[in-house]
Amino acid sequence: MKPYIISPSILSADFTRLGEQIAEAEAGGADWIHVDVMDGHFVRNLTMGPFIVEACRRVTSLPLDVHLMVEHPETLLEAFARAGASHLIVHIETCSEIVATLGAIKSLGCQAGLTLSPDTPAVALEPGLALADLVLVMTVHPGYSGQVFMPEMLPKVAEVRHRLDEIGSPARLETDGGISVETIPLLCEAGADAFVTASAVFHHAEGIATGIRSLRDALENPSAGLGPD
Ligand code: DX5
Ligand code: ZN
Repeated sequence: MKPYIISPSILSADFTRLGEQIAEAEAGGADWIHVDVMDGHFVRNLTMGPFIVEACRRVTSLPLDVHLMVEHPETLLEAFARAGASHLIVHIETCSEIVATLGAIKSLGCQAGLTLSPDTPAVALEPGLALADLVLVMTVHPGYSGQVFMPEMLPKVAEVRHRLDEIGSPARLETDGGISVETIPLLCEAGADAFVTASAVFHHAEGIATGIRSLRDALENPSAGLGPD
């Protein structure tokens, strides 16, 4: 098992060249490709549907890490699974029957992911925690890329890591929002092992591959990038 996963979010990609940008991320060492699905209801923004997942599936063999920021996600699971999603991540705030929803994701052949928004406490994950193949802690309010990292989420990451270890869960602990070379070591220290990044990869001044490499360097050598204070 890889020690760390980097999952670039195509939300900040250039959509006129989506295939090329995904190929560049894959060649640059991306482990997964993150797809942010927003419905204009659960979050204000409106983004992509199964057809984008299907297009991504045709240009990469990497796992597609699909983050569903939608109301009633259970109605969309089959369409995203058919389109080629590898992971389907649902928000606990949108699921009244979390055990059934995670079970439905697994029965579609996908990995079941569970996530929560910054205002939701870690304890809300409990009913689904043992069933989840991955848990995603949001470190910004869901809706947009390019937001400022919320350091007050670090204790929540540590709390979820503690609970996963306590129940012996092998689930990945993913984090999403405002992740950069400065914040990634803090998340790693708190117990995260998978990192979603949109702007730090797709808007990196020296290109996508350098963006990914810098994040990996910051994980492997956390003090190297920090100058004297
Ligand atoms: C926010 C999305 C994130 C977002 C991250 O709602 O879930 O995946 O794309 O963007 P950055 O890395 O720019 O904060
Ligand atoms: Zn996301």
